[in-house]
Amino acid sequence: MIKALLLLLSLTFAAPVAAQDMPVATVVIFDAVCLTCHEGECSGRMALRIERGDEGLAGHVASYAGRQDDGTVSRLKTLMGRLKTECRLPPPPVAVPADGIWEPAALAPLTLADRQRVFLPLGRLQPGAHSVSFRLDEPQRLRLQVVADSFDIVLDEEDNIGPVDRRVRWRVDEPGEYFLRIIARRPMGALHIGP
Ligand code: HEC
Repeated sequence: MIKALLLLLSLTFAAPVAAQDMPVATVVIFDAVCLTCHEGECSGRMALRIERGDEGLAGHVASYAGRQDDGTVSRLKTLMGRLKTECRLPPPPVAVPADGIWEPAALAPLTLADRQRVFLPLGRLQPGAHSVSFRLDEPQRLRLQVVADSFDIVLDEEDNIGPVDRRVRWRVDEPGEYFLRIIARRPMGALHIGP
């Protein structure tokens, strides 16, 4: 009885941190790249039933996220499997800085190797107006998305980001965990994100 209760408790506490057992880099590839196509799979909005051997999957992953080692490919497959039952975006296992300032060093682990995608947690947001400011040493046009852990996209726009702070605003109706996905067309220089 006690054992069953403990098991139940551990399951309860394990659920919100399901992605904590995964390396940050793997979760970032999954959230920044794979979920742009596969986010509908949990709800049955999209059901991709084609079974792939790991060889085929490695090629599929490589075409969107660059060549990855076997360990990463198999972890991505695990994340995809969980997505179908948990129906929730796996959060990158990093803390949001208390002051809301992301310096390039803090963003490095959340940036793909090609420096063209970044995925970071914005923390728990309440309904209302929100904004962050962006600065990039070499200007370029970035696609910016704010995504809920339920996969709802509350902001999706392109902005010219350069050396002068640029404030980007969005509204939230549902309280919850939100994330920022940044998509660039060429490798990004030093990026600063602030409150
Ligand atoms: C541009 C859209 C797109 C992106 C990005 C993408 N996929 Fe896919 N994926 C598909 C489509 C379409 C299929 C089914 C058709 C096929 O097999 O080619 C598929 C099939 C799969 C399958 C086999 C079926 C399933 O749902 O289990 C897996 C696993 C998979 N993708 C994993 C990934 C991973 C991991 C990433 C990130 C590196 C990724 N995909 C990125 C479109 C995409």
